[in-house]
Amino acid sequence: MPAHRFTSLGPLTGRLRVPGDKSISHRSIMFGALAVGETRVSGLLEGEDVMATAEAMRKMGASIEKHGDEWRIHGVGVGSLLEPESPLDMGNSGTSTRLLMGLVASHGITAQFVGDASLSKRPMGRVIDPLSTMGAHFEASEGGTLPLTMRGALPAVPITYRLPVASAQVKSAILLAGLNTPGVTTVIEPVPTRDHSERMLRGFGAELEVEEVDGERVIRICGEADLKPQNVVVPGDPSSAAFFIVAALITEGSDLIIENVGLNPTRAGLIQVLRDMGGQIEELDRREVGGEPVADLRVRHSALTGIEVDPAVAPSMIDEFPVLFVAAALANGTTTTSGLDELRVKESDRLSAMAAALTLAGARVEERGDGLIIHGTGGAPLPGTSGEPVTTHLDHRIAMSMAVAGLASRDGVEVDDTSPIQTSFPNFMDLLSEASA
Ligand code: S3P
Repeated sequence: MPAHRFTSLGPLTGRLRVPGDKSISHRSIMFGALAVGETRVSGLLEGEDVMATAEAMRKMGASIEKHGDEWRIHGVGVGSLLEPESPLDMGNSGTSTRLLMGLVASHGITAQFVGDASLSKRPMGRVIDPLSTMGAHFEASEGGTLPLTMRGALPAVPITYRLPVASAQVKSAILLAGLNTPGVTTVIEPVPTRDHSERMLRGFGAELEVEEVDGERVIRICGEADLKPQNVVVPGDPSSAAFFIVAALITEGSDLIIENVGLNPTRAGLIQVLRDMGGQIEELDRREVGGEPVADLRVRHSALTGIEVDPAVAPSMIDEFPVLFVAAALANGTTTTSGLDELRVKESDRLSAMAAALTLAGARVEERGDGLIIHGTGGAPLPGTSGEPVTTHLDHRIAMSMAVAGLASRDGVEVDDTSPIQTSFPNFMDLLSEASA
């Protein structure tokens, strides 16, 4: 458990590039592993979560190798996944677990899913319910958690399912099960969530249509599908860029360009919220990479003002709240957030973990059932931690958010365990020292 004290490093300047998008990286491996022929992926995020997906797909028959800067995947074809001979170790990754449960659900194979202490607490009932209706059989640990053994159904039965929680993982699990299910599987999304599965499945040649009906998104996938190998270029991850965006906004003298940031509207909520708080974030050279909108972002130190965050934006920035709370702690006035119950079931309970961590660093935070209320310093540095370090609870985003808080602190912020950063952003520490050199 490497602890680390993050202290103020001076202005963030120059240009940097964050690693590839985690959601798109997972999907490029999974879909490549289902296409017959060779899929090539560049810009893949080589974090532990994505490597867990790659290892699981290898165990189910795909060949996945790195050649130079490019990953090459030889898939087995939809319907031809092999039964894994040993448990699929999902590490810390909820996305790998839930999406792969979807894939297994419509293959006639048995698979066991295991994970670390954080993942083993997270609810899987949200995918077990719809996938059971499609015919899959589950034996889960108490409360519908890992370790879990499942047997897929062959053939699985197509369903129409209205998502009870706004979750791209649940949506994607059902769509992936639908790939090998004869007939039309339908998912209804009352609130839109990230749409990478839809965009990429279409790109890989699946028959998938999206229609808006009475304000809801209706997504239909036709099985059994044939996926065609693709060349995928993965754009930079906006959720990783978020740490550098906030770091530059709250550090005096900063003027930083973050290149190649994915700006899919279902992911870009944080940028608008920070602009509403007074953040100077400019988009340069808007373009398309791998079917996704991207731009270079120029971010300058800004005086931020607290706001009331509209809960409707939550799905488009669901992973960015921990670092938004840090921005709020340095703003002038009060920031109120609500409608964030989902944050309690991420890699950690992010409402209570961030309330505890920011309080320890000297911020004024009130924890509510579904959000935090944060009274900012008006730009003055946070006191920082002395004595006890903040606890990351095996959550990469708590570790990186509190690293950013350390940059804007008088005495520094000590984080108890930086190892979870490897799950999504292996070169975070290097980029941080480069940008402030
Ligand atoms: C993800 C969906 C989100 C997000 C996670 C990645 C995905 O989870 O928090 O980091 O790639 O589909 P939920 O679907 O649970 O909201």
